[in-house]
Amino acid sequence: MNYTQSRLKPASLLIHRCLGGRQPSAAIILGSGLSIQLDRSYGELPASDIPGFVLPTVDGHIGRVVAGILGQRDVLLIQGRVHCYEGIPEKNVAFQVHLIRELGIRNIVLVSAAGGIRGDLDPGSMMLVEDHLCAQPLQAKAKRGAVYDAGWRQRVITASDGLRVSCGVFVWTIGPSYETPAEIVAFERRGGNAVGMSLVPEALWASALGMRVFAVAVITNRASGLSKRKLGHSEVLRAAFNAQANLTQLLVHAVAQSPKLHV
Ligand code: HPA
Repeated sequence: MNYTQSRLKPASLLIHRCLGGRQPSAAIILGSGLSIQLDRSYGELPASDIPGFVLPTVDGHIGRVVAGILGQRDVLLIQGRVHCYEGIPEKNVAFQVHLIRELGIRNIVLVSAAGGIRGDLDPGSMMLVEDHLCAQPLQAKAKRGAVYDAGWRQRVITASDGLRVSCGVFVWTIGPSYETPAEIVAFERRGGNAVGMSLVPEALWASALGMRVFAVAVITNRASGLSKRKLGHSEVLRAAFNAQANLTQLLVHAVAQSPKLHV
């Protein structure tokens, strides 16, 4: 599947104008309720103004694109992820990824809220994704080899001394319902460490388009059956909000350590 130039061009022209001639080191797509503090923003567009942009329907997804500075680097921040469970076809979920590539940005940072399966993945911790398992089949095909850039991830781990980060395997489920405790037991046996409903479709498309991918699961809850606490979207949103300061610090390193490759 390919997006035609005609579908992407009007959106990319608008964002080019918003960037004012700057070339971001990376684009960042944030998931449910997640936010980061940019050092400065110099352009902002509501998603509804961007032609072709697939608008989010889920609580906690603002729907905007911001051009700004994080640490010392230019970034394009997309708040307003869409999911397959919103009834949106996979190719439309990938619109943002195609748009980022059309803008000539080769480095993509994907962030998703997730439930922790592995014992150390408590709410507030962050897991850098080294690989994934798909609980349901997806059409997108990674180009070849690893989807998640190992060198980039390693540089971030070295730079992030003091932050609660580890690496692991992300399990993608289509949602929208949370998993059953039995599913979590099965995922754990298969090697899954955290579970979420986004990130993987975009990572596969980005990889298929030859982009470098860095992905983070922000742990907002223990996965189903692993905690006595009630699991729901409002709990996820609250924990995601509380993660802002740590996530910002991590992404400063992620962007600073991004591969120096532009089109
Ligand atoms: N499961 C699936 N998606 C999620 C979870 C979870 O436990 N937490 C945040 N997103």
